Amino acid sequence: MERDEIIMRYSRVFPKAARVTYAPIVGVRAENAKVWDIEGREYIDFLSNAAVQNVGHNNPRVVNAVKEQADRLIHFTFIYGFPVEPLLLAEKLAEISPIENPKISFGLSGSDANDGAIKFARAYTGRRHILSYLRSYYGATYGAMSVTGLELEVRSIAGELSEVHYIPYPNCYRCPFGKEPRTCHMECVEYLKEKFEGEVYAEGTAALFAEPIQGDAGMVVPPEGYFKKIKRILDEHGILLVVDEVQSGLGRTGKWFAIEHFGVTPDIITLAKPLGGGLPISAIIGRAEIMDSLPPLGHTFTLSGNPVASRAALAVIEEIEEKDLLRRAKKLGKYTKKRLEKMKEEHELIGDVRGLGLMLGVDLVKDRDTKERAYEEARKVVWRAYELGLVLAFLQGNVLRIQPPLTIEEDVLEEGLNRLEQAIADVEEGKVPDDVLSKVQGW
Ligand SMILES: Cc1ncc(COP(=O)(O)O)c(C=O)c1O
Repeated sequence: MERDEIIMRYSRVFPKAARVTYAPIVGVRAENAKVWDIEGREYIDFLSNAAVQNVGHNNPRVVNAVKEQADRLIHFTFIYGFPVEPLLLAEKLAEISPIENPKISFGLSGSDANDGAIKFARAYTGRRHILSYLRSYYGATYGAMSVTGLELEVRSIAGELSEVHYIPYPNCYRCPFGKEPRTCHMECVEYLKEKFEGEVYAEGTAALFAEPIQGDAGMVVPPEGYFKKIKRILDEHGILLVVDEVQSGLGRTGKWFAIEHFGVTPDIITLAKPLGGGLPISAIIGRAEIMDSLPPLGHTFTLSGNPVASRAALAVIEEIEEKDLLRRAKKLGKYTKKRLEKMKEEHELIGDVRGLGLMLGVDLVKDRDTKERAYEEARKVVWRAYELGLVLAFLQGNVLRIQPPLTIEEDVLEEGLNRLEQAIADVEEGKVPDDVLSKVQGW
């Protein structure tokens, strides 16, 4: 089959609701940080396929675990029986989790984990209100979509859960309160108090859903002390902190869980994306008494705790431990950020570089003073990167997403950064024509 034929056939059978594309890559093979397409072209993957391949594409430990398990037992219903693999995985997750003696519920995607977290939080507290953040992303199932602060059009068409309220995320580059770091009085924390005085009954609120770093909002990192202050207010009112580590978890930021950078312990953590090394598995890790609050079958799926996905996840965690990937993420992240900051000195298009570990964002702007988002330029950079052999994406229309595997070789990382800089320079120099704008969709 030819590339163009495949792309044409895609549009016949898949609805647009299922996809958002950046480049016409028909991937057929991948290894660590490299991907090859159907025409034999090689790409460096700065996206880890949407923050999934933390331990690299087709990591040999994961591949062997999957093969070995598939030969022995592909599925044995965890709901009715006692397969060993999900047990070992749950015990391992409990060991690395910052929540003491947690209980764990398995699912298939980040979205269902967040749906479950809504149910557990409401059941445990006996309260219905949920707080969430503007520009947050929690997934596409009804519950996850309803606490998401993006994708408003879908919700207006399809309907949503009620009793969800939003607060602005602490964004020091584009402060929703118009402040600069030197004039900041943590208005974002004060706003929560206002919310409780003017809109939401605090004692009727079950949980605050938070990404420790807002991923799809464009890699927004909260200022130090923010989560500690917020947690104090939540505790005063008996409100749970649910932390979505679907994108930021499992070593991406240099710690097992990104929330560990901020010195607070959440009540519930949701995990997915990198957990299965590419196989569908999610986890809700929560304080035992919270996780015991739903009745039997209150949150489970026929394929929950699948042995092959569980073995893959165990292999992912072993790989992070044995290759010391937390340290590697920190080290490579520091190096990458420094290079991106150097690029910022030379390229006016870059307004901000931010992130932790290998969860980085490059905010492209038309003007550094107004911070106007450079939407068209971002699309051109992503297209040019594709032409140069670099898989790249943007978020919020203008923030380049830099999330390579934690296992990326140093020379491959360097080459990827060179290609990125070349793409930015080519766009600044007007070498990328306007007609590519119609080829890049993105979001
Ligand atoms: C922070 C966050 N939460 C939840 C999700 C949803 O996960 P999934 O697509 O596996 O359902 C995503 C996916 O992009 C995410 O980035």
